[in-house]
Amino acid sequence: PTFLKVKANKVANPFFVGMAVKAAQLTSGSGYDIILKNEFSSISAEYEMKMDPISTASGVYNWAAADKIVAYGNANGINVHGHALVWHNAVPNWLKDFSGTDAEFALEVKKYITDVVTHYAGKVKSWDVVNEAADDNGGNMRNTIFLQRMGPNYIKDCFQWARDAANAAGDTSLLLFYNDYATSTNIPKQDRVFTIVDDLKASNLIDGIGFQMHNTYLSPTKAQIETDLNRAVTKGLKIHISELDIQVNQSNDISTFTNERRLAQKEKYKEIVKIYNALPAANKYALTVWGMKDNESWIPYSTELNHVGNDWPLLYDSNFAVKSSHTGFLEGLD
Ligand code: G3I
Repeated sequence: PTFLKVKANKVANPFFVGMAVKAAQLTSGSGYDIILKNEFSSISAEYEMKMDPISTASGVYNWAAADKIVAYGNANGINVHGHALVWHNAVPNWLKDFSGTDAEFALEVKKYITDVVTHYAGKVKSWDVVNEAADDNGGNMRNTIFLQRMGPNYIKDCFQWARDAANAAGDTSLLLFYNDYATSTNIPKQDRVFTIVDDLKASNLIDGIGFQMHNTYLSPTKAQIETDLNRAVTKGLKIHISELDIQVNQSNDISTFTNERRLAQKEKYKEIVKIYNALPAANKYALTVWGMKDNESWIPYSTELNHVGNDWPLLYDSNFAVKSSHTGFLEGLD
């Protein structure tokens, strides 16, 4: 088959084709290793570069898995996107139970961001500094431990600390992203995200926005996606489709991967890649797919998603064979 990054590198304004990975997948010669080297020009850690696996106590870090992922990217000319410095679903227990004052809590977060950005300076091209700070009901700030203990300025603080650490380490090209989901269909949330972004932009602290795009074969529509992404274009920000997968069984109305859904998924991948590829060069960065094989996706039977059935959301099947969705991705690059 044609390799994704080979075709993506030949479009008028090339962009990275990304994959979410786990350290254990990166063994030389593994099915993942072969596909990553052939088809992908960027990687994100699906889990192992978050705060909970890295930070075991205040100032105590377990770098092993994250180092393996970063080293793999650096050794193979593959871009590394850091996901994610601050996320309410990745707070280690020691910080959840932190008994210090709010000011001391903020210093712990500052220390974590500073240490991690310093550790990977020059090795990681971009970071999701804050992930999912907007809520899903009415576009408020999500009421996370960070908001509660650091106050509404916490997002700007985190971006400032990341920027300061990168500059202090001489990494003046580090790209700082804000990352979130469902902004194409949830307009109050979209508005909140762009309020957050405008605030960061006013302080020259943000370089890009991550649109997770955990989509279905029906939603969001082309128009909804274009409206959402174009708000980032007008702000001169880089756009990362950061966690693309496309559910075909979100309503649990099929028990096998029917041809009808296979084709619909192919068309949806094609549509999204086409939209992304049409962006102005200045706004392009990466389009990252959230996992390699259908059977290892976070989605099937996901309690978080209330997904009660199986699903086939990705580009490769359980045998690493390309699916029609992979063909759709390639056609989107035409
Ligand atoms: O591997 C460890 C195991 O050693 C440990 O004993 C166990 C204890 O809980 O955890 C295991 O790690 C699991 C990890 O995935 C394995 O890769 C975690 O439990 C589990 O919570 C983690 O789930 C990830 C989830 O984020 C939470 O970090 C999913 O793989 C990942 O797909 C999902 O991705 C998120 C994005 O980061 C943000 N956007 C939403 C997206 C879907 O939830």
